[in-house]
Amino acid sequence: MKEFKPIKEGKVREIYDNGDSLIMVATDRISAFDVILKNKVTKKGTVLTQMSRFWFDYTKDILPNHMISTDVRDMPEFFRQPQFDGNSMLCKKLTMLPIECIVRGYITGSGWASYQKTGLVCGIKLPAGLKECDKLPEPIYTPSTKAEIGDHDENISYEKSIDVLEKLYPGHGEYYANCLKTYTLKLYTECAEYALSRGIIIADTKFEFGLDENGNVVLGDEMLTPDSSRFWPAEGYEPGHSQPSFDKQFVRDWLKANPDSDYNLPQDVIDKTIAKYKEAYKLLTGSDLK
Ligand SMILES: Nc1ncnc2c1ncn2[C@@H]1O[C@H](COP(=O)(O)OP(=O)(O)O)[C@@H](O)[C@H]1O
Ligand SMILES: [Mg+2]
Repeated sequence: MKEFKPIKEGKVREIYDNGDSLIMVATDRISAFDVILKNKVTKKGTVLTQMSRFWFDYTKDILPNHMISTDVRDMPEFFRQPQFDGNSMLCKKLTMLPIECIVRGYITGSGWASYQKTGLVCGIKLPAGLKECDKLPEPIYTPSTKAEIGDHDENISYEKSIDVLEKLYPGHGEYYANCLKTYTLKLYTECAEYALSRGIIIADTKFEFGLDENGNVVLGDEMLTPDSSRFWPAEGYEPGHSQPSFDKQFVRDWLKANPDSDYNLPQDVIDKTIAKYKEAYKLLTGSDLK
């Protein structure tokens, strides 16, 4: 059996090279306040992979995506081991475009901080009088560029995203930049509306796109998971203060109340967190996680 070593190990995901495809594995690691916790959240990786799968299916008529299969029988033998079952996705390898396509439907986090100071979020003027976590009149596209490891991503204007892409693809910068913006807003709008009908507010999210061998724009990476998005419970939503995170609230609350824990969570907090991931999956997809 051919052994595989990850070509990349992120905080939460591992990426394996498989020729003209990739295998993206979501582990059960969890981060909070930018730290990887000591505990594993059993099945979190499966929930995240299956959620991406759901959204890739849901939006496949808007644009093509990189998903080939989440069935390990379609993957090399090495992946037919229990630790890869359910949490792995075989994906078409793309040439990724170096823009993080962020869309915000609600004002929170760094956007809220910036708005309070300047009335702007990433250079976009917003109406006066918004409260923390208010819904925006319409979703805004706030791209950033991927920083080298360790650095924070840098917010850029839409115009700057044209320049970045024009340098890489002379004569096509404006076309690609417009594609990314249009797709990002459309994907977010349709999916956030659906999620809301199922009791989950998707406050903001990030998409990544790449090009296939014919130069077509294809959606890559993960899609609308709680790791790439802010999920809030619709029940109890109230602007004017921060909202609880759908999945990590127990973890964050406990860590705040136990600053000396060294990021080691008690089992009941883990159990409640697992339950929240499964609940989010069930709300969104209508079925229990298999
Ligand atoms: N279909 C794809 N083809 C090639 N690269 C991809 C594809 N989908 C996602 N990627 C890339 O895989 C990497 C996933 O790494 P990740 O664990 O998210 O860490 P980070 O975002 O910090 O680089 C990202 O660089 C992403 O752009
Ligand atoms: Mg990433």
